Amino acid sequence: MRPARNVRGSVQLPGDKSISHRYGMLSGIAEGPSRLENYSTGADCASTLACMRSLGVNWERKDGNVIEVQGRGLGLSAPREPLDCGNSGSTMRMLSGIVAGQKFTSEMIGDESLSRRPMARVIKPLTAMGAQIASQDEKPPLRVTGGALKAIDYTMPVASAQVKSCLLFAGLFAAGETRIEESMRTRDHGEVALRAFGAKVSRKSSGAGNEVSIRGGQRLRGIEARVPGDLSSAAFFLCAAGLFPGSQLVIPNLLMNPTRARLLDILMQMGLRISVTQLDEVHGEMVGSLQVEGGRLKGATIAGADSAALIDEIPVLAAIAPYTEQGIEVRDARELRVKESDRIASMAANLRLMGAQVEEREDGMKIPGGQTLHGAEVDSFGDHRIAMAFAVAALRAEGETMIQGAEAAAISYPTFFQTLEELTER
Ligand code: S3P
Repeated sequence: MRPARNVRGSVQLPGDKSISHRYGMLSGIAEGPSRLENYSTGADCASTLACMRSLGVNWERKDGNVIEVQGRGLGLSAPREPLDCGNSGSTMRMLSGIVAGQKFTSEMIGDESLSRRPMARVIKPLTAMGAQIASQDEKPPLRVTGGALKAIDYTMPVASAQVKSCLLFAGLFAAGETRIEESMRTRDHGEVALRAFGAKVSRKSSGAGNEVSIRGGQRLRGIEARVPGDLSSAAFFLCAAGLFPGSQLVIPNLLMNPTRARLLDILMQMGLRISVTQLDEVHGEMVGSLQVEGGRLKGATIAGADSAALIDEIPVLAAIAPYTEQGIEVRDARELRVKESDRIASMAANLRLMGAQVEEREDGMKIPGGQTLHGAEVDSFGDHRIAMAFAVAALRAEGETMIQGAEAAAISYPTFFQTLEELTER
């Protein structure tokens, strides 16, 4: 990656990863056909579709990232091979809720990174609902024997939208009403998608948190939908624009769900000018068009509920932090240590290689502003968001940056580097 002088242009993002996973799964257990336009092009969402195929769901990929799915209804077929979730924690955690409701055994496997990630967060509540799950130290592979489930009342110990969706999906197969409480509000795509497919999901807010519930036995029906552009992928371009005071970006059809859009508030507080030129609601999800203009970026502190809301955007915020005026401090983000890589360690290592000063902490980091970075050979650590974050950091460094394992970007955004190249002026 070579340094840039400016960022300018219009960018249409591939479909949101969180929504694509959920639509991919729910269309398989819905009745009738579904047509999903602008389905995520990332390898993770392809893993979800491959698993659905192994569970007996027929689907076809048409031109232009359109997926046509023949829904099977709630009963799937026993897979003849392990369900390969690849690098995707979302696939393993959310799909475990669906296979827990099936009268057969599924083996769920993942790549080396996924095999290190904690699964107790789904094993415990699904076991309480009546599923049998064998694992190695509560890590993948998982062997899930499903069957008749019973509803539970569950308070989630870690803020996780994947776990919330897993339990809502399992709740469809349970006798009674499953209630899930979260003390910190996480993204609500599971709830919104279930409603789009015709299920009734109730919600009560409780302070900063939330309680959601679902009654078992509800049938879903297929939908025709267009997946909004991925806001977490747009984050890389928004932050790149933030590096150059004269930058200008137009982003149409972007997901603007309020449980995901905290990044826009933070970047605006820091000094990026963002205006929303159009706002619509599609299948319960807000979609907007953005016009963005760079300014000088101040600093930010990300802590508490913000750390949960920005969990996927913290890598790129950290990557631009040294170039901001006051720097960025991240607290209460221990979850970053159990993502596709230990993201706190990955970010700190790469920033230091580029000559930045960083204070690494157990649950976050402090990166002073006003620093000058130099190009270096950094590593993606096999983590898509780290690969893309450091492509952005490289834009303002002196000299060239090499990103080892940059192909990891394909997990969520295969054409990222090409698009970044098109948007940057050298
Ligand atoms: C996701 C939730 C988050 C996020 C992940 C996608 C989702 O994970 O990091 O990229 O689609 O629900 P957690 O649920 O572990 O916080």
